[in-house]
Amino acid sequence: MKLVAGNWKMFKGTSETLAFFDAFEAPAGVEVVVCPPFTSLSLAAGRGVPVYAQNVHWAVEGAFTGEISAQMLLELGVEGAVVGHSERRQYFGETDETVRKRCEAALEAGLRVIACVGETESEREAGETGAVLRRQVAAIPPHEALVIAYEPVWAIGTGKTATPELAQQAHESIKELHPTRVLYGGSVKPENAVELLAQPAIDGALVGGASLEPGSFGAICRAALA
Ligand code: PGA
Repeated sequence: MKLVAGNWKMFKGTSETLAFFDAFEAPAGVEVVVCPPFTSLSLAAGRGVPVYAQNVHWAVEGAFTGEISAQMLLELGVEGAVVGHSERRQYFGETDETVRKRCEAALEAGLRVIACVGETESEREAGETGAVLRRQVAAIPPHEALVIAYEPVWAIGTGKTATPELAQQAHESIKELHPTRVLYGGSVKPENAVELLAQPAIDGALVGGASLEPGSFGAICRAALA
């Protein structure tokens, strides 16, 4: 079964979260996950769609201002977490080492994990995509509750999608390093979802912008059934 995860990023407070769930129904036959911001997690949990956080700290508790532990998430009914999203790597100092620590602690605590990898535009232009993916994937612990999301940074929020062939190729190389399900992320929309999700090495999608509207997110979820 394919997995489609909606990463809301820093969008939707509590009232917009409620409005989304009033209008959204996940189709059967596809695993659907929603990743709201921390402040909407407790409201989103228990509404029939598994809820993941967008980040998780490795300590159980402690003097880590602004961070949230796996145990705190589990207490809310949260089932998993995204780890190592490129926006965390780009703007908040996330490294392969902190990604590894977050993944290990989350899995150990019983959360599922979507661990993100992907090259930047300049890395791709410099022919470094393979090396970057090998380095990032090597930091991710193999686990049955973990999936990898391949999100080329140049395709996130830009409207530039990797071609299905290019994504297929990257997914194959990731699977050689780490035999797991691999989701594609980066400007996935209802218009391109069917073709992307038809690639044999693409096991689902991590959707940003298009996951904010129940209509477009539902259409992408249904594309995973095709
Ligand atoms: P996008 O974001 O679909 O808006 O490009 C994807 C992501 O960052 O997970």
